[in-house]
Amino acid sequence: MWPFSKRSLLADSHILYGLTDYHAHLLPGVDDGISSMGEALEALSGLERHGVKRVWLTPHIMEDMPNTTLYLQARFRELKAAYRGAIELHLAAEYMLDNLFWERLAGNDLLPLEGNLLLVETSCFNPPIDMEGVFESILSCGYFPVLAHPERYSYMTMDDLYRLKTAGVQFQLNLPSITGLYGKTIRITAGKLLQKNLYDFIGTDMHSLSHFRHVKNTKISIKRIQRLRVLAVLQQYNQFGIQRPADI
Ligand SMILES: [Fe+2]
Repeated sequence: MWPFSKRSLLADSHILYGLTDYHAHLLPGVDDGISSMGEALEALSGLERHGVKRVWLTPHIMEDMPNTTLYLQARFRELKAAYRGAIELHLAAEYMLDNLFWERLAGNDLLPLEGNLLLVETSCFNPPIDMEGVFESILSCGYFPVLAHPERYSYMTMDDLYRLKTAGVQFQLNLPSITGLYGKTIRITAGKLLQKNLYDFIGTDMHSLSHFRHVKNTKISIKRIQRLRVLAVLQQYNQFGIQRPADI
């Protein structure tokens, strides 16, 4: 019998080793993510055990969850004071492209990822008004849009995604999309984008402990794991602002 399986647990693949997680809802009690400090610390310890090195906390900011920058910074200080582990913690946000976003952009009241990267999302079902105009405005204000989980937007075609990419929008893959947490269609779209090297960043988008258990305990194909390894390397180039080699 052929001794090697064609599938492997994500937890055994070392994808998480040394990784920066660019999308996580682990700031306790501020949005629909982790609800208590105890769970946040448990989630961080789980990530640390699998080798994650840095985590960007990216709570939602949207009209339905109008978290202020000062409020999030205060909650972030509480988490940092309580956390005794080795993961580097950073604060940013995930901005819904709604009216509140325009207010925050106009007031330059934003929490970007490193390098002025701005993590943004839209409704999964409907585009915002003048989406390409929003991305142009973000760029003209000196920020670089990173679209969270592009594989999850049911209204977007592959052509739409290519157009955004050409317009300077970077893409962040949700690991749970690859493991099938959101269903087969999203898993397939994520696989296509991964195969075409269209992603720039990886995130867990972790909202709960069960969410993390699903990601680490699901088997995915070795081929997907190899593509994820390539993306993890590309992410390091993005992270440190180094020019990518032409052949990856
Ligand atoms: Fe998210």
